[in-house]
Amino acid sequence: MADQWGELERNPLREGLQQARTPDPNCFVIFGASGDLTRRKLMPALFRLYVQGLLPSRFSVVGVARRPLADDEFREQMRQAVATYGTLREEAAGRWERFAALLRYVASEFHDAAGYQRLGQVLAEEDEHRGTGGNRLFYLATPPDAFPVIALNLGQAGLARPASGSWTRIVVEKPFGRDLHSARELNDRLHAFFEEHQIFRIDHYLGKETVQNILVFRFGNAIFEPLWNRRYVDHVEITVAETVGVEGRGAYYDATGALRDMVQNHMMQLLALTAMEPPATFAADAVRDEKVKVLRSIRPFTPEQVRTDAVRARYVPGLVEGRLVPGYRQEEGVAPDSTTPTYVALRLMIDNWRWAGVPFYLRHGKRLPKRVTEIAMVYNRPPLRLFRERDDASDRVEPNTIILRIQPDEGISLKFAAKAPGPAMDLRSVTMDFLYSASFGISPPDAYERLLLDAMLGDHTLFTRSDEVEVAWSILQPILEEWDRSGEGMAIYEAGTWGPSAADDLIARDHRRWRQL
Ligand code: BG6
Repeated sequence: MADQWGELERNPLREGLQQARTPDPNCFVIFGASGDLTRRKLMPALFRLYVQGLLPSRFSVVGVARRPLADDEFREQMRQAVATYGTLREEAAGRWERFAALLRYVASEFHDAAGYQRLGQVLAEEDEHRGTGGNRLFYLATPPDAFPVIALNLGQAGLARPASGSWTRIVVEKPFGRDLHSARELNDRLHAFFEEHQIFRIDHYLGKETVQNILVFRFGNAIFEPLWNRRYVDHVEITVAETVGVEGRGAYYDATGALRDMVQNHMMQLLALTAMEPPATFAADAVRDEKVKVLRSIRPFTPEQVRTDAVRARYVPGLVEGRLVPGYRQEEGVAPDSTTPTYVALRLMIDNWRWAGVPFYLRHGKRLPKRVTEIAMVYNRPPLRLFRERDDASDRVEPNTIILRIQPDEGISLKFAAKAPGPAMDLRSVTMDFLYSASFGISPPDAYERLLLDAMLGDHTLFTRSDEVEVAWSILQPILEEWDRSGEGMAIYEAGTWGPSAADDLIARDHRRWRQL
């Protein structure tokens, strides 16, 4: 870690960034300051930004949560959080104390109007003593049912409107609604007090370097984009496989399930970035317009298609990475007769000029054998079998495939056929590989660092717009409805396997099979 510390100090890439991208002075207010997200993600990310000199010199963090705590107790909790979940050894760096001095705490119920008055006073004090200039960022890191009440109270306390010459922003965590109707309602509740340009809907996948690199790979190079369409691509597979189960979040997950937890947000974003047209510029709205456009081109599911093209399943006990793990229904906080899916596979068609006829297969599950997130563009076979491969060779020669490895082993591979050395024309699949760690010498930073910085900078490019979140829900709405209505068709899979056989059938019907990962 000491090396990593050194790397942060010296990295020339960061030096440029530092000059170009330091946000205005501001107060960063976290609702849900005693929660998991604050401890695991927000505070470690803020501290790393601080250490890298990417935060403004006039800055303050105000935590808001129910539990009564003194400022010093809050600071101590956050020190422990950074020590546990952060990637820097803060004591070794000797910076924690200075950072901790920027932290304050306000105890309040989220519905208590008096708490917002106290918060307003604390913010005014910070403006006066630290020169934070009236700029406020409210981060809602609470359970989603608190989002509307916090927005309402901020509005009623007069905290949603910036004073002249300063800004006020609100960052809303996922899940953004639980269906199309509730997402619209939440948008309305936010828009009652905040303008769209003040709202930052977070999807942490967009903060991942590898996800941002999808657009660079496609539009920053001349050689790939001409091959990125129905003429050459046979099909696209997007996989988000996790080995973890519900990780102490049983109650949340049981009310949510795989489709809402991962597909509506993270996977729809991966799909949109993979399939969208080039934006006119790299400005936030130009990028988001293209994402919305491609999402709108996804063919709507009919109830029949839900039955054939959408698979859901739940894990039962099994071995993951050599360890016996309980089944989903045995997890704490999960109903013993739960019908919540922990696995989803979908077949989507995009009815536009570029993708007509190319199926996009999506799969996501918890308790799968391996943690891997990737996007695979699988290309057509050559038109002729010129080399008279033996019949059994087809297994050894995979179709040309471009694999964008989102995580882990972040990188990009291209698979193609090569002649195996020897007297015969024996073909094998080989791989050309780009690895982030090898080319850049560092592992990508945590997604939250980038997103917190962008929100403070007012850059919306990596945040989801209101119409985007609604269109993503509208794609999944018929599936949610059909699954609710029919109550049938829930498959099971053993933990540590690649999901139910129904998912294999879904792709096998098209005479294809999932990539073996
Ligand atoms: C979260 C989901 O949004 O993303 C979790 O709620 C999931 O269930 C997590 O495990 C995955 O994120 P990452 O960055 O580890 O792929």
